[in-house]
Amino acid sequence: MIGRLNHVAIAVKDIAKAAELYRATMGADVSAAVQQPDHGVTTVFVTLPNTKIEFLEPLGADSPIAKFLERNPDGGIHHICYEVDDIISARDKLKSEGARVLGSGEPRIGAHGKPVLFLHPKDFFGTLVELEQA
Ligand code: CO
Repeated sequence: MIGRLNHVAIAVKDIAKAAELYRATMGADVSAAVQQPDHGVTTVFVTLPNTKIEFLEPLGADSPIAKFLERNPDGGIHHICYEVDDIISARDKLKSEGARVLGSGEPRIGAHGKPVLFLHPKDFFGTLVELEQA
């Protein structure tokens, strides 16, 4: 059911610093920073040959990653995103197997303009999992 690893998301306090490290030191292809007020984050994408890294910096007062950065002040891996062909059938299959879908359970339009869902980290070995319809 799951397909490619679409991205690994890393939460950071200073996205400009993260972008510069990956651009200058790691020699990566790094996007400009984009504010995503609907999601409470600013994002930078690092395009690698086989996947992407998504840097997330809190945006606004009630950012969904603020608590994570309180617990992980140096930053850290926040979630991993797998591609699926059909997000509704993937969701229904996972729910039927007992996995918990976060929020309303309905897909939202994610940072890439495609439908996404998040799965409860307790059901996936302590890792927040995002599904994105490819
Ligand atoms: Co993501």
